[in-house]
Amino acid sequence: MNILVIGASGFLGRSLLPLLLHDERVDSVTAITHNAPLPRQFTGSKLTALSVKKFFRPEFDRTERHYDTVICLSGRTYSQTRDEAVIRESNLDLPMRIINFCRERQAGHLILASSINVRFAAAHNRGYPLYKKQAEEYLAASGVPYTIFRPSLIIGRGDAGFSRLIRYIRNHRLVPVFGNGRKLEQPIHVDEAAAFFHQAAVFPPVNAVFEIGGMEAMTYNTMLFRIADILQRRIRLLHIPARPLYLGLTLLERIGLGLPVNSEQIMHIDTDLDIDNTKALQQYNVKLTAFECLLREYIRGRYVSRSL
Ligand SMILES: NC(=O)c1ccc[n+]([C@@H]2O[C@H](COP(=O)([O-])OP(=O)(O)OC[C@H]3O[C@@H](n4cnc5c(N)ncnc54)[C@H](OP(=O)(O)O)[C@@H]3O)[C@@H](O)[C@H]2O)c1
Repeated sequence: MNILVIGASGFLGRSLLPLLLHDERVDSVTAITHNAPLPRQFTGSKLTALSVKKFFRPEFDRTERHYDTVICLSGRTYSQTRDEAVIRESNLDLPMRIINFCRERQAGHLILASSINVRFAAAHNRGYPLYKKQAEEYLAASGVPYTIFRPSLIIGRGDAGFSRLIRYIRNHRLVPVFGNGRKLEQPIHVDEAAAFFHQAAVFPPVNAVFEIGGMEAMTYNTMLFRIADILQRRIRLLHIPARPLYLGLTLLERIGLGLPVNSEQIMHIDTDLDIDNTKALQQYNVKLTAFECLLREYIRGRYVSRSL
């Protein structure tokens, strides 16, 4: 089985690649990278690394290799860039080109990394959640056999947001929270998210959307207090009303003023994002770990990706 992975050197890609490379059913993995190269530990005769520039060039097309599975992990969030064109390119335009590529090359299966934030795509009606939703719709209508995953917040070594939160709690007693903090989050370990993608890659396509999250949902407040407990820190939460902040940020974004916090991030914290994993766990055999265990591993600095 030949697999093509776009966004292979990213956070999720680095956990997924070893699972694919160690799977006997997988004959080859073509890993498409963008800015960051693949880490040096990824080697072997099964693996071909290609930069995105070569991906759409004629020399790539001439390989005529048939891909049984194409995995699109491309994405950018507002914690990475404020450039709307980059967000759109990563979350919508590139996935659409990949969907077209799969249709033209009759790839057997396309797996798309979407996001749980699609839940508030209609309410927010722009940016990251809307692009993800539009990419999902384009894929579902394309005729390409597909599986779509909508992960919740993914945590683990090398994550962008969660490690920042831990560092903040380690160094501050007063923690600002946008909204009342009673909305639900259900973080998933990066290796567990990767395991869903891996299993989907080697199983037949199901033409379905799966929301995937960790073992348990908790309020944002509870999540912060659990982090503080393990760090043995006493914290106080400062709740900042979400609605006026959201409206203010929306206005500033409309006139092109970017601030350190984006309205989409406020919407995320102020929306219930608990996941019913039943459908995904009936389809795929993935073992989830209790949040408490993940947190202890994380904070003790032993949070090395288990698949490496
Ligand atoms: N992490 C989370 O909490 C989370 C939650 C829900 C959904 N997701 C989704 O899951 C996917 C993987 O997330 P992640 O955390 O692994 O993100 P990541 O670390 O930012 O990785 C994304 C990958 O996509 C590549 N990429 C971005 N724009 C590209 C472009 N225009 N052309 C080619 N490649 C491009 C990046 O390459 P370079 O970095 O080299 O530019 C990177 O390898 C994303 O679609 C994300 O939206 C993530």
